[in-house]
Amino acid sequence: MLVFSKNEQLKSYLKSIPKSSTTGFVPTMGSLHEGHISLVKKAITENDIVVTSIFVNPTQFDKKSDLENYPKSLDADLEKLKEAGCNVVFKPCVEEIYNNDVTAAFFDFEGLDLPMEGKHRKGHFNGVGTIVKKLFEIITPNKAYFGKKDFQQLLIVKKMVEMLEIPIEIIACPIIRTHDGLAMSSRNELLLEDERNAAPFIYKTLKETQEQFKTTSITDIKKWFLQEFKQEPKLKLEYFEIADATTLQPIMEKTPGMQARAFVAANIGKVRLIDNIELTY
Ligand code: PAJ
Repeated sequence: MLVFSKNEQLKSYLKSIPKSSTTGFVPTMGSLHEGHISLVKKAITENDIVVTSIFVNPTQFDKKSDLENYPKSLDADLEKLKEAGCNVVFKPCVEEIYNNDVTAAFFDFEGLDLPMEGKHRKGHFNGVGTIVKKLFEIITPNKAYFGKKDFQQLLIVKKMVEMLEIPIEIIACPIIRTHDGLAMSSRNELLLEDERNAAPFIYKTLKETQEQFKTTSITDIKKWFLQEFKQEPKLKLEYFEIADATTLQPIMEKTPGMQARAFVAANIGKVRLIDNIELTY
């Protein structure tokens, strides 16, 4: 496995591989878990060369403390990537990516950035768009892999690629969970023991939402959810939304065959967790 920290070195390596080879790219912020590794493994099955980036992107953090506390484990990450069969790792420093201008560009995501994460984390998606575009320009992969864990991010990246006519196929990958249903996240490591024990409640309520969606009105589900969430005092609900899975606009009424998803963000101690689930009617 080759490890690069400099744009130009990575670019000249990628230029040296045969033109007929396909490249898959998995962008990450490190502190890798099985969710990330599932993306890498999928990329390996579909491409000749797989590049994984590890870069904690400052412009997508709205809170300085969140950026400073973001977990880091470079040695363990490299070990996991090597074991998974990743070919190339790109781990630039902030200056290498941003020079002296650590700011986000502005993107028009046609409203996909307005609800949920965009509403609660100001500027977050401009930061995501900025780094993903920069990495796409350096790596120029054929395919790039994103998890449905960050469903809104996935749609935003798809929108960016479509609007800027970037010739990269975006592959959506399923959410990987621990044995008790908690969606894997680098932030789970920051949970204290009692918080970790309480965290699977998020998935439990989402599973129940999925069941209720078959029989109950959206208004009643929302009322029930707000009440239900109060049963776990360690969890502070930030938002619960039922939205169209393509536009992310809130759904008021169910129609047969509609593509809907339920989305949750909740704070537990100092940690913010998000999760989502598919709904069928
Ligand atoms: P990060 O949170 O490290 O996630 C990297 C990729 O792994 C994302 O596509 C995310 O959706 C996916 N992922 C995380 N947990 C997952 C899980 N439990 N199951 C499946 N996939 C999972 O998302 C980012 O980094 C950044 O915003 C990034 C795209 C790298 C830009 O900085």
